[in-house]
Amino acid sequence: MRVLVVAGARPNFVKVAPILHALVRAGEAPVLVHTGQHYDARMSDAFFRDLAIPEPDHHLSVGSGSHAEQTARVMLAIEPVLLALRPHWVVVVGDVNSTLACALVASKLKATIGCRIAHVEAGLRSGDWGMPEEVNRVLTDRVSDLLLTPSRDAHPNLVAEGIPAERAVFVGNVMIDTLFAQLPRARALALPQSMGLTAGQYAVATLHRPSNVDDAASLGAILGALADIARELPVVLPLHPRTRANAERLGCGPLLDPLVVTEPLGYVEMLSLNDGAAVVLTDSGGLQEETTALGVPCVTLRAQTERPATITHGSNRMAPWPLSSAGVLAAFREAFLQGRVGAGTRCPEGWDGHAAERIVAALRERC
Ligand code: UD1
Repeated sequence: MRVLVVAGARPNFVKVAPILHALVRAGEAPVLVHTGQHYDARMSDAFFRDLAIPEPDHHLSVGSGSHAEQTARVMLAIEPVLLALRPHWVVVVGDVNSTLACALVASKLKATIGCRIAHVEAGLRSGDWGMPEEVNRVLTDRVSDLLLTPSRDAHPNLVAEGIPAERAVFVGNVMIDTLFAQLPRARALALPQSMGLTAGQYAVATLHRPSNVDDAASLGAILGALADIARELPVVLPLHPRTRANAERLGCGPLLDPLVVTEPLGYVEMLSLNDGAAVVLTDSGGLQEETTALGVPCVTLRAQTERPATITHGSNRMAPWPLSSAGVLAAFREAFLQGRVGAGTRCPEGWDGHAAERIVAALRERC
């Protein structure tokens, strides 16, 4: 089976690692393409190192830009790679611009090279067309031949869009494969202790969605809430480059002062920090899932989530919308009082460390 796996941005690396490893264990020789959407050492190289991802076979070096620029550059760069390699499967993961760009090009080349497209993390829907990721998810699913879903709730979403039910296969959550594989290293690292933090006595926050960080009112409300929480316990904020640039540009810099601000962290560092946190506050999709697997209460700083399994599990809650400092503070206090949920002993179905093996089986069955 010739399998080409695409990764472009930080959350993709966490998903492709177990898939690549499972393919190799099964005797396959996957080809890895890195689009270069994320390129900083801390956004990319650190993840390759932590997760033992092999050097990409092809690096497209597209870099940053507007959505149109970035998507178009990936499309132009992946086309000759697909034409040269003629893979049986093009595996795309998640919902970033690189995901859609490669799926779209592969779908137009199907007749020429006979490839098929598998989308890992298919069927998640926030219902918010204002989110670039929602556009990427819906369109990627539409052009994919095999929809590999992380949770059962994804299936009715696909059927409602007219996608034949037999195209979807429930495989479980591949991000959680990575989490379980790396947890012993994360615990041995004990990052909170080396930062002078006490387990269960600090919060972690992450923030990077354009809708939260691109204007002064929303960024100010969220950072204001984090500053309020920091009066009760330390708040660690590993800062995404977009958020750092915007905080300075929008005059929100002083609101960072009460927080423990760090550079973006590597995977194992971040897992070590999250594992010991009292509460995580985030607008990331992946962190909602990782906290669910860890049993750490999470407050989601968005209008809606495409990952309802994290809510029904009981570990995740939505901050009242529209976000306000008082609303976020109240949600944080509720989450803090709630404490751990299941503590990693009870996870949603298929979040069991074996999703990548099921993905390889599904690819083989349909090759
Ligand atoms: C992208 C994904 C988002 C994902 C996030 C994880 C899309 C539409 N968005 O958002 O779904 O949750 O990655 O981080 O694909 N930058 C750097 N160094 C880098 C990469 C980016 O400094 O290595 C800066 C650049 O100023 C860039 C900005 O961050 O313009 C945004 O990067 P981009 O990849 O466009 O989107 P993210 O906000 O990272």
